[in-house]
Amino acid sequence: MFEEGQLYSPVTADADGGVQVHLGENHPGFRDEAYRARRNEIAAAAVAWEPGQPVPRIDYAEAEDEVWRIVSHELAPKHEQYAHSEYLAAKQALGLPAERVPQLDEVSSLINPLTGWSYIAAPGLVELRRFYAALGWRVFHSTQYVRHPSQPLYTPEPDIIHEVMGHANQLASPRFARLTEAAGVASTRLETDAGMQFLADVFWFSLEFGVIHEQGELKAYGAGILSSFGEMDAFRSMEIRPLDLVQMGTLNYDITAYQPVLFAADSLDQLEDVVGDFFDNCSDDSIAELRSKVPAA
Ligand code: TRP
Ligand code: FE
Repeated sequence: MFEEGQLYSPVTADADGGVQVHLGENHPGFRDEAYRARRNEIAAAAVAWEPGQPVPRIDYAEAEDEVWRIVSHELAPKHEQYAHSEYLAAKQALGLPAERVPQLDEVSSLINPLTGWSYIAAPGLVELRRFYAALGWRVFHSTQYVRHPSQPLYTPEPDIIHEVMGHANQLASPRFARLTEAAGVASTRLETDAGMQFLADVFWFSLEFGVIHEQGELKAYGAGILSSFGEMDAFRSMEIRPLDLVQMGTLNYDITAYQPVLFAADSLDQLEDVVGDFFDNCSDDSIAELRSKVPAA
């Protein structure tokens, strides 16, 4: 469960179309007026967008492309060393540009032939059930803004770098794509909020922050690690526990910091057996049973 804080800055729209993104005091862009104006502008495009229309194109500034370029170049060697081979192969197959921020429709054109996924625009937080239901249709809601240039190595708030370098590279793998889709389909079977939250938390500790032992080394496959070159350096020193659905679905975590506890699969096969099987078969009842096994705190 979330301990505190919110993942995305709240977005509000007023009657005459003005859109505001409310950055928190601790956000690296809080005191940067130009950044805030840019965030409002990018969010406004997504707010105005309606399904069926082409996804908004954002005319990225040179400074935004520069952040993308820095993160791409920092991540490349770290991925080579510490990303799981399945992610590396998928990243290679997808072929994202390294020098500039891609448009979401470009991301869709690259990924669709590989695994059938599409990217659509989101201004910020998408309600949990809507986000997951879309995953079941292989549709990924993505923000379009770029993290603040003062802190390229980690952002407390998912941005297009996370959504695309982290998730699209991962979703270009048929195996990770299938797991993600299965989580989306599972969400539509769950009627209780407790069931939905448990599913989202298993997703957090697998497709967002999961790691796998591969040939004697610990490798990342979670999109939240793979999009942060700070966390790519840190994850191998964290507390590593074996896969455990009860713990993954109930452990508290802070969404604004490097994850101190990670769950490692012994192999991608084992991940599919344990987490994939959970996504394929979970129900409100089976989750209630898992939740009843949490040792009293
Ligand atoms: N820290 C990630 C990055 O720098 C982005 C991120 C913020 C994130 N919060 C998250 C990713 C929660 C996954 C889940 O790229
Ligand atoms: Fe994510």
